[in-house]
Amino acid sequence: MPDPSSLTKSRTPRRQVTAPLLRRDSMGNAYHVLTFDLPEGMEALPGQFAMVRGAEWGDAPLLPRPMSFLTGGNRPSILIKVFGEGTIRMARAIPGEPFEILGPLGNTWPAVSPGKRPLLVAGGVGVAPLLYLARELSSAGEKPIAVYGGRSHRDLPLNEELADVSELYITTEDGSRGAAGRVTLPLPELLSDDVEVFTCGPDRMMAAVAELCAAKGIRCIASLETPMACGYGVCLGCPVKRAGGGYLYACTDGPCIDATSIDWGEGNHAPRRVERGER
Ligand SMILES: Cc1cc2nc3c(=O)[nH]c(=O)nc-3n(C[C@H](O)[C@H](O)[C@H](O)COP(=O)(O)OP(=O)(O)OC[C@H]3O[C@@H](n4cnc5c(N)ncnc54)[C@H](O)[C@@H]3O)c2cc1C
Ligand code: FES
Repeated sequence: MPDPSSLTKSRTPRRQVTAPLLRRDSMGNAYHVLTFDLPEGMEALPGQFAMVRGAEWGDAPLLPRPMSFLTGGNRPSILIKVFGEGTIRMARAIPGEPFEILGPLGNTWPAVSPGKRPLLVAGGVGVAPLLYLARELSSAGEKPIAVYGGRSHRDLPLNEELADVSELYITTEDGSRGAAGRVTLPLPELLSDDVEVFTCGPDRMMAAVAELCAAKGIRCIASLETPMACGYGVCLGCPVKRAGGGYLYACTDGPCIDATSIDWGEGNHAPRRVERGER
């Protein structure tokens, strides 16, 4: 079993900054891209994330929210899907509003092995760290294959941007765009010996992708979206079960982890969460 800590670690020390929102672009159907103005920049690499919180939120919600970087540099951005209190506030934020950003956190997507072609599998907002990766790969002359799935055509934010930098296959469960079915639909055909898979999306989706890859002996890296409180290894609030026993911490061992290192649970439904009192 590969040692997850052998994956590339962050190259830039984390820091906490307060930065104003530069712009918020609504993508319809609860998706927004938030871009921050950070003249001194943040050297965030594809796969890394930040803990993000409005500086004027007061006491609620108290905890910052983990969000993958969509871009880094002096205009770092994130893609959010409205889910609960924190993302509702982010979706209402106006330009100039100050945000606290702690990052970059976590590891990066590992390098693609020599001779392999990257195959990116994205579901929902899982597209953010994969679009960042696809842009980097494409600008390095290594255009990836990408499969992007959503419930309907309204759940495919940034699909045009992804199409610009990849050979893109789209699936929707209701058939309103691309092939009708789940994101795993085209995989049996695309999973050949010369690809390596990078996936981010809902747990069940990644478990299904991991299972298909394992059956063919194909390397699969999954970026976990486990709930987090601190984001850098202090609270021990983000454990997932490690295959073969023990635990992995999504924020410090990941979020990008070799899928064979994760105990995806009986029936491969999700990485097994740790129940209260189990640790
Ligand atoms: C590495 C990573 C990258 C992510 N990237 C994105 C992204 O790019 N876009 C996106 O939309 N979403 C992303 N998410 C998911 C996103 O963080 C959640 O959807 C978001 O936190 C929901 O916050 P909320 O206030 O809207 O929802 P709520 O349900 O109101 O709040 C969820 C919050 O509850 C707390 N919480 C719940 N369970 C636990 C627990 N076991 N331990 C500690 N705290 C807990 C956490 O503070 C958590 O953030 C990412 C998650 C991770 C871990
Ligand atoms: S979120 Fe605190 S240890 Fe991982």
